[in-house]
Amino acid sequence: MDQQKAIQLQLAQKEHLRITFEWAQNAFLRKFSPNSKPIAFETHEGWFIKKINDPNCRFYIASLDNDKIGTCRLDFSEDFGKAEISYLLDPRFHGKGLGFLMIELLVLEAITEANNRAKPLTLIAKVHQDNIPSLKIFEKAKFEKTSPENTEYVEFKRNINI
Ligand SMILES: CC(C)(COP(=O)(O)OP(=O)(O)OC[C@H]1O[C@@H](n2cnc3c(N)ncnc32)[C@H](O)[C@@H]1OP(=O)(O)O)[C@@H](O)C(=O)NCCC(=O)NCCS
Repeated sequence: MDQQKAIQLQLAQKEHLRITFEWAQNAFLRKFSPNSKPIAFETHEGWFIKKINDPNCRFYIASLDNDKIGTCRLDFSEDFGKAEISYLLDPRFHGKGLGFLMIELLVLEAITEANNRAKPLTLIAKVHQDNIPSLKIFEKAKFEKTSPENTEYVEFKRNINI
């Protein structure tokens, strides 16, 4: 649990454009993404700037000591009743259980958000059926599977009550 204390989430800023582009270009990280085609820098830049300025998005950069280890995001519905989770870890930090710790911190951010708005929130995650580490992470983080068996993207939810 020491590592969890050391992982920090900060809201993404323009200075994180380059590192997020490096991650967006990484074919291994995008293997299970619904859109795994190469992304041009200009396309990423337009998307990134829009996201960090979107009032319905909380876009975080995760750091461990002096390293930027990955990113995670909550994309809220218009009424803030639901939020879809996206996340990735830099490949240098895979295999150490950090993805789970990052999701736990993201859930804490979501709880704060729900409490601040005094509104229950449903977190949603869509995970490719072959993405074993991510399937395991959401199960361990007490998300409930909501999709039928054998769907390409397994859907998970976790309700946050206030
Ligand atoms: C998803 C991701 C963040 C997980 O990374 P990670 O934290 O390094 O994951 P871990 O290696 O700790 O694996 C998580 C769990 O799955 C288990 N696992 C990993 N690969 C496995 C395999 N092939 N078979 C069985 N179990 C496996 C691990 O043992 C671990 O279980 P534990 O918590 O019981 O020890 C990382 O793979 C990533 O960035 N992927 C690309 C982006 C992505 O897929 N994002 C999620 C979209 S839904």
